[in-house]
Amino acid sequence: MSASSETHRKIILDLDTGIDDTLALSYVLASPDAELIGITGTYGNVVVEQGVTNDLNLLAMYGREDIPVFKGIDHPSTADSFSVPPDSAIFHGANGTGNVEIPAHSDAKPRDQGSVDFIIDSVRRYPKGELVVVPTGALTTIAAALEQAPDIIDKITIVMMGGSLTQPGNVGPFAEANINQDPEAANKIFATKADITMIGLDVTTQVLMSQEDTDSLRRTGTEAGRFLADMTDYYIRISEQEEGVFLGGCNLHDPLAAAVAIDPTLVTTFATNLMVETEGPQRGRTIGDPKRLLDETKNTKVALSVDAERFTKQFVDRLRTLVTTQRNEQ
Ligand code: BDR
Ligand code: CA
Repeated sequence: MSASSETHRKIILDLDTGIDDTLALSYVLASPDAELIGITGTYGNVVVEQGVTNDLNLLAMYGREDIPVFKGIDHPSTADSFSVPPDSAIFHGANGTGNVEIPAHSDAKPRDQGSVDFIIDSVRRYPKGELVVVPTGALTTIAAALEQAPDIIDKITIVMMGGSLTQPGNVGPFAEANINQDPEAANKIFATKADITMIGLDVTTQVLMSQEDTDSLRRTGTEAGRFLADMTDYYIRISEQEEGVFLGGCNLHDPLAAAVAIDPTLVTTFATNLMVETEGPQRGRTIGDPKRLLDETKNTKVALSVDAERFTKQFVDRLRTLVTTQRNEQ
């Protein structure tokens, strides 16, 4: 994928909405160089139903109910059901938005078409490179789409939040939360030839939102500004209490993936072929695949450094503009 920040990108967000998922959605809506063509709901921080309800209410808050929402697969590929892990409920609150209520209620429903079919149709519809699929939760739905329609593997561009190569995991010594939800699905995706950019803890732990930033959203005086500020303050507080290392703010995991989907120049990457450990104490670890070390083609680009200053400034500026111009001004 080669593109400058001026390139206009079509985006599908595959969200487990979630505080930082909410911030990622807000960032894409706030970006003049992106067009959000749909949201597909997955599980992780919340169950799919809650995530999709959050998506619909957030779109209503921003006056963007024109954007379709689809329901994805609601449990890992190796299980029959899913319940929210206790840590996710702590970090994101019982409702996914830090126990702060979204100040809009939508009567809209998710589309009848499922997420898998929507992703397949969309990848087939647009020229290669025009559409980026951005998973920020469990990878079950994306893996199912690639399995159901192998013809899209050569065409799809994926910029995913998940995994870690150089940092410890955040749900154990090795595993990052999104990969850990469904390591088998993640492993299947990495094993394909799909064009993947991995935005993992290597870089997302370097981009922070501080209370100064949330205060600047609150000062806009809009409902959406206050909501984002209150929700993110919850995330900052919990991060300070629960994370081993607190550097003055909450990590902007999912927003960075969304931002790189729009502007790949925000990060520098290392090309490799990855796998996910699916057995033993390292289950959920993302690591180079020793069997494909000599392959000429490397399908995954792992982000290892980030222009944190440029990203965080642009992130807060865009969100401030979004909430200042949204229709629920008071
Ligand atoms: C990821 O896990 C989820 O809790 C967050 O929304 C983010 O996608 C960070 O590891
Ligand atoms: Ca997420």
